[in-house]
Amino acid sequence: MQIELKPLQLSDAEKLYDFFQKLPASENGKNNRAHGLSRKEFSAWVQTEIDASNGKNLREGYVPGTTFVMYVDGTPVGVSNLRHYLNENLEKDGGHIGTHILPEYRGRGYGNIIKQETMKKAKEMGIKRVLIFNHDDNVPAWRTSEKLGGKLDSINEINGVKIRKYVIDTSRI
Ligand SMILES: CC(C)(COP(=O)(O)OP(=O)(O)OC[C@H]1O[C@@H](n2cnc3c(N)ncnc32)[C@H](O)[C@@H]1OP(=O)(O)O)[C@@H](O)C(=O)NCCC(=O)NCCS
Repeated sequence: MQIELKPLQLSDAEKLYDFFQKLPASENGKNNRAHGLSRKEFSAWVQTEIDASNGKNLREGYVPGTTFVMYVDGTPVGVSNLRHYLNENLEKDGGHIGTHILPEYRGRGYGNIIKQETMKKAKEMGIKRVLIFNHDDNVPAWRTSEKLGGKLDSINEINGVKIRKYVIDTSRI
């Protein structure tokens, strides 16, 4: 099995359109803003993601972040987002990493793999302490955080949702 975690690129936009349409729009606080876009809008969205990775044209209150696509033997199966640093709000909820696996590929270990591969990118970027927030009822998500050595820091209720805050030291990765 060959795993590749690749930053989203304009040259891949055409072949990733269907994948992003199959990935649900929103689940457990994880949004796929490409869902429902036309092909033309999708290319424009890919460009805004590339800009965000380069810290360009950021919206007010946003920090730079990279969107990665994970390919298994050349097939896209999931997406992850890595924020390069956090602001005060993201330290309370949001954190560094979000992951999203296509429904048809869930429960096969890819959630663990994409988080681990994204942690490696965080380490390469010089991030020492990664924060991850998972909904308390989203068991697969927080199990992957714990599997990577995440320490449960706290459980807080935010907007009526119980959220677990994990801290992961990248020296473990
Ligand atoms: C969270 C998510 C990425 C996990 O992906 P996945 O490919 O299903 O995860 P895995 O197959 O690697 O399983 C991860 C762990 O959860 C466990 N798990 C999987 N499905 C489960 C379920 N339905 N109930 C309980 N545990 C489950 C697995 O056993 C595994 O734990 P283990 O390694 O200790 O055995 C995926 O469910 C998803 O995309 N959800 C929607 C978006 C989301 O919630 N993202 C997380 C917040 S950013």
